[in-house]
Amino acid sequence: MKGGPGTRPYGRRAEICLRETIAVARVFVTRRLPGDALDRLRAAGHELDVWSERLPPPPEVLRERTVRADALLCMLTDPVDAELLDAAPRLRAIANYAVGSDNIDLEAARARGIPVGVTPGVLTDATADIAFALILAIARRLPEGEVAVRAGEWLTWEPDWLLGRDVHGATLGIVGRGRIGAAVARRATGFGMNVVHHSRSSGIPLEELLAQADFVSLHLPLTPETRHRIDAAALERMRPTAYLVNTARGGIVDQDALAAALHAGTIAGAGLDVTDPEPLPPDHPLLDAPNLIVLPHLGSATHATRGAMADLAVDNLLAALDGRPMPHPAT
Ligand code: DGY
Repeated sequence: MKGGPGTRPYGRRAEICLRETIAVARVFVTRRLPGDALDRLRAAGHELDVWSERLPPPPEVLRERTVRADALLCMLTDPVDAELLDAAPRLRAIANYAVGSDNIDLEAARARGIPVGVTPGVLTDATADIAFALILAIARRLPEGEVAVRAGEWLTWEPDWLLGRDVHGATLGIVGRGRIGAAVARRATGFGMNVVHHSRSSGIPLEELLAQADFVSLHLPLTPETRHRIDAAALERMRPTAYLVNTARGGIVDQDALAAALHAGTIAGAGLDVTDPEPLPPDHPLLDAPNLIVLPHLGSATHATRGAMADLAVDNLLAALDGRPMPHPAT
């Protein structure tokens, strides 16, 4: 290692870089990754410790392996908090295999001069596709139709069986107009929808959007400010014929309030790719709610997208271990 203890700079997160290189770093990778991106870390001379189980490393294992690491390549399922960082004084870089960074205490990392990277851009279209798939599936009752076919309930073509809602001509309200929100808006325009949006800096007030939209699609990062942004009051503002779609983070929605709204029929339905927690326990009230589709966080789950995410995560680590700023810092 060039440089030495005490050389970690402190400063704004985007500017954090080690100003030292670590020629042979020990990198703890908390899951096997698709594609061959990890080979680039090996080719650069770094030593990889890859957790290869299907479930995430339990907290004690995450701690024990991170303590021995110079760099961490972690998943959205790995909580990286101040306590873990304090236990890991060698740690010089964190690459999250996600565009979101709500599993990481960014302030704590910044205070310790540890750069944190994420994987923006490459999962935008895949995630927008899943949001749109949920819109179509919940409005046109696709899961119910599929189940009915397999259960032998498809007797014949019937004039009034499994009728859904039109997507064309409906109003889509996009909450959060970042890359993914904009990509969903493009799809919606192609499907003949009217699009309105609400974000911190543009669009219409959230209350208005909730009252107008036939479909409300969430595209916000999870922060203390956005936690339960869609609460009982927000759900009450939605039309009884409207649907809620969440492909962002489960914590943005108050799920007890959502379960109550679905049971009471005060909204028409919901499509969720994310929940809080993930997975939902089998006895969670949401799972009994009518008109609900729940997917197991598939937004970025395509071969190409997950491979590209691995590439960006490795780019972030290689830069940091080389003493350069990460190309994709968490913000
Ligand atoms: C992310 O990258 O934050 C996504 O939720 C992963 O699918």
